[in-house]
Amino acid sequence: MRAVLIALTEELCRLKSAGVRTVAVSETSIEDLRAVVRRRARPKETGDRRLESGVIVQPTVLSAPADSFRTPHSALHNSGDGGDAAPVPIRPPISHLPSPAVAPFAATLPPPPVVELPAGDKAARWAVLRERVLNHPVCRAQVRRDKKVVFGVGSLDSQIMFVGEAPGADEEVQGEPFVGPAGQLLTKMIQGMGLMREQVYIGNIMNWRPQTPTAAGAQQVGNRPPSAVEMAFCLPFLRAQIEIVQPALLVALGKTATDGLLGAARFKTLGEARGQWHEFAGRPVMVTYHPSYILREPTPRKKRLIWEDLLRVMERAGLAISDKQRGYFLER
Ligand code: URA
Repeated sequence: MRAVLIALTEELCRLKSAGVRTVAVSETSIEDLRAVVRRRARPKETGDRRLESGVIVQPTVLSAPADSFRTPHSALHNSGDGGDAAPVPIRPPISHLPSPAVAPFAATLPPPPVVELPAGDKAARWAVLRERVLNHPVCRAQVRRDKKVVFGVGSLDSQIMFVGEAPGADEEVQGEPFVGPAGQLLTKMIQGMGLMREQVYIGNIMNWRPQTPTAAGAQQVGNRPPSAVEMAFCLPFLRAQIEIVQPALLVALGKTATDGLLGAARFKTLGEARGQWHEFAGRPVMVTYHPSYILREPTPRKKRLIWEDLLRVMERAGLAISDKQRGYFLER
């Protein structure tokens, strides 16, 4: 218990020094903390929710911020050929965002940013956006000092954009999405489609690894799903990448990516959405399994299901499909 309290206090101090003044904590956790404080028989119980770090904790607010403005479809299609484009504000379309189970250590964040893309060609706009995200004070405050904020990578002319959940341990070290074990499988899947990783665009709903309480000097163990508020904050950055790259279609990898793009209220399980075409920002979205799910359940049946989704993607993207590719993972 002592180690947990020390880790918690250190984390709150880190957040405080990064400018965070409130954090979201479930009522249950607040009760647990109060019980600890009572056990330590402090002289008086103040009744408020201020911890030793000076950061005020408050019950998690899961409702999305009030701004539910949606960028008109026409505003997202100002440059079909990737030529010079005028500045475009990317507003956070967060009205659909989900209310999942409380994420234990998700900070309360400011409202999602309105991203103003500069005029210019794709490469220039992408470079400006990337710098902004990597140096965004809110994003920076979410990662430990020796870890990185993660931005999308790949071809700015790709027809296909893969969207994952959030960076993990390897990604926050290297600053690139999908470079760990799940990323290596994703790269193989892309190669199975007859493409190179560099020929597609790969992004995430989140630009940072959702943090969990970790003792000072220790590495975070495991991952947690991002909260609705965290996803709402990062979504304008993903929208802006879509606006720049203008892929013909998106592939949502797993339930969190699906919830982030399509709204958690729409599907209880991934199975309800998987293998079908949906729409985000005026573009078709194929929902499929996250590669980490296939790593956990590497059965021929699961591999075939994800592969069938990728065949759908190849068909829609107009990629040639050989008989050999059609037959991958078919049980004989
Ligand atoms: N899982 C994801 O969803 N994204 C990454 O970048 C890595 C693992």
